[in-house]
Amino acid sequence: MRDPQDRHGLRQERYFAISPLMLFPGRAGDFDVFLLRGGEFVLHARACERFTQSHRTMLSENGVTEVYVPCHQEPAYRAYVEHNLGRTLLREDAPLEERARLVHECAVDIVRSAFEHRLPETLARQQNIARVMEFVREALAFLCAGQSFQTLARLVSHDYRTFSHCVHVFLYSSAILQTYEPDRQTLLDAGIGAMLHDIGKVLIPHDILNKTGALTLSERAVINTHPGKGVDLCAGLPLTRTTRDCILLHHEKLDGSGYPGAVRAGAIPLAVRAVTIADIYDAMTTNRPYSRAMHPFQVLRIMRDEMFDELDIEMYKRFVTILSGARIV
Ligand SMILES: [Fe+2]
Repeated sequence: MRDPQDRHGLRQERYFAISPLMLFPGRAGDFDVFLLRGGEFVLHARACERFTQSHRTMLSENGVTEVYVPCHQEPAYRAYVEHNLGRTLLREDAPLEERARLVHECAVDIVRSAFEHRLPETLARQQNIARVMEFVREALAFLCAGQSFQTLARLVSHDYRTFSHCVHVFLYSSAILQTYEPDRQTLLDAGIGAMLHDIGKVLIPHDILNKTGALTLSERAVINTHPGKGVDLCAGLPLTRTTRDCILLHHEKLDGSGYPGAVRAGAIPLAVRAVTIADIYDAMTTNRPYSRAMHPFQVLRIMRDEMFDELDIEMYKRFVTILSGARIV
């Protein structure tokens, strides 16, 4: 995020960087787009101005890799991406490479925003964003290749909010797992699992997924099929056991009260436990169709007091320590 002072020492508007790829030709957004020229922000496209292919060509010919949006317009930018990304990914006429880069840029964008808005500043500094981004890139390099990309693109285009949730779960669960110092491959397999953990939701109808009222028993039963559907969807992909476990078991609970298999602690690997804790925390701290986001402290208290038998409490404590910004060796 850029936070410049003007030449009179007054604080100016703050901006965040995005890739020009996130400006979809033919689609107007309700936010201004600026270029950075000699340390000054120069207006490139006004809010509601339709971005065109010639905008994009001009940027690419001038070697522009970042454009800037004023921070106060971030909600409008997010709504624009949510509305347009899915349909762009499904366009078979657009080069696959470009669509894969779009997913990549979008995930990086979500991680950046999470660091700025959802994690304590101390943690953002300690974790070294560049290192986390490198890890995100590594996981996405796998996910954006061949068949895996088609699967991921289906998730983004079916329900952007689920995709955004998966990226957050990736971030939180990776931070938790790192404290156990696993080998890099395990961390990567778990990261890919976190990114795909709700992939089965592409087979759940929108009216159930986004229902604002309480779910009926039969609707709940449909939702509960998503871990199994997710594993089936990924059957043809070269995923490891760790990754598949994250998809299939992320709603299992240590006391056997989870679904789909009601398996108990001994059958739930460490990577899955991390995804489960991250999943619950992110879901409850985010606005959902049927409930408002809760404050992080409130969520952590509920997890501690009401899910004591269900979650790995030693791991939960590590997560609280991570979120409090304390250093973990
Ligand atoms: Fe899930």
